[in-house]
Amino acid sequence: MDTKFWSVDKFVTNLEDYPQISEAAALLKENEVVAFPTETVYGLGGNADSDTAVAKIFEAKGRPADNPLIIHIAKKEQLDSFVDGVPEKAGMLMDHFWPGPLTIVFNKKAGQLSAKATAGLSTVAVRMPDHPVALALIKKTGLPIAAPSANQSGKPSPTSAQHVHDDLYGRISGIIDGGATGVGVESTVIDCTGPVPVILRPGGATVEQIEAVVGKVQLDPALADQEIAPKSPGMKYQHYAPNAPLYLVEGSRDFLQELINEKRKLGLKAGVLTTEENVAFFQADAVLGCGSRDKPETVASSLYDTLREFNAKDLDVIFSEVFPRIGVGEAVMNRLMKAAGQRLIKEE
Ligand code: TXA
Ligand code: MG
Repeated sequence: MDTKFWSVDKFVTNLEDYPQISEAAALLKENEVVAFPTETVYGLGGNADSDTAVAKIFEAKGRPADNPLIIHIAKKEQLDSFVDGVPEKAGMLMDHFWPGPLTIVFNKKAGQLSAKATAGLSTVAVRMPDHPVALALIKKTGLPIAAPSANQSGKPSPTSAQHVHDDLYGRISGIIDGGATGVGVESTVIDCTGPVPVILRPGGATVEQIEAVVGKVQLDPALADQEIAPKSPGMKYQHYAPNAPLYLVEGSRDFLQELINEKRKLGLKAGVLTTEENVAFFQADAVLGCGSRDKPETVASSLYDTLREFNAKDLDVIFSEVFPRIGVGEAVMNRLMKAAGQRLIKEE
């Protein structure tokens, strides 16, 4: 398949009138699939009303069919056609966070949207992305746009058009390059169909920010306990794993260095994922600094790029520092634990 590549400056005005956006929107209306930037990660968009378009998304990513997609909108009024009522707390969250990195699960109107997009569920996850290119593209189509992250299933989500290209070139109709995404981890998914909102996936909007708007929320118990089946179907899959096995390490820098030394004595190549402050401390075959320890947003922003970078280093094992679960640090640790297959080594 021929994959078109468009470059767009997200800061220009009248984006909707740009030929790149018009061309991409035309392809979406023809039920082709196109990757576009959002403020969290790049998405792979398709017409959410079309089984044909949605099937192409699953096919291109190699995504399991039981994992529903997030529906992206550019105006709140778009909800009316497919959402069965907006609960009060959902309305408050929409007013506060949209456009932004919060996905809200609603009850769906029967018979609306492609059943493939919602994996046959009676609920639907929706968000309004905070990115001028995404908003212009969605507006131009006038459609609800189903969009999972634009990576090959199982790989880290793409935070640049290059990542999308690496994973999906030749498998999709186009890629809009709008520069690097900002937040770097996916949106927070919150279920607002019950009396108390439940966070199904930690992400760009933090628990602290959400509770400041709607009061106490619950966390899906599956987030803390691997034995419980998550309510968000996608959360059960292993994700984000680099090619070499990754271990999270809770302890001192000396303890982590000792783990590296043991592997290297065996002739193995060891890498370390650390923060800028600690890069100079470690001796290993690859030492990658990912943001700054005291600023979880900077770690989130470069996390997936760093995980992808390890694959170019031809390592046998990777050790990673753990990060404080503060603010977006909660999402960072959720993704790292998945990338590590839940392997955590603690210093005695
Ligand atoms: O930031 C994001 O959310 C990005 C950008 C592209 O918008 N999208 C994204 O999509 O991360 P994806 O497909 O990689 O993750 C969607 C998550 C999955 O865990 C899925 O199971 C969950 O949302 N989800 C979708 N519909 C749901 C529903 N009705 N109930 C519960 N979880 C749902
Ligand atoms: Mg994804």
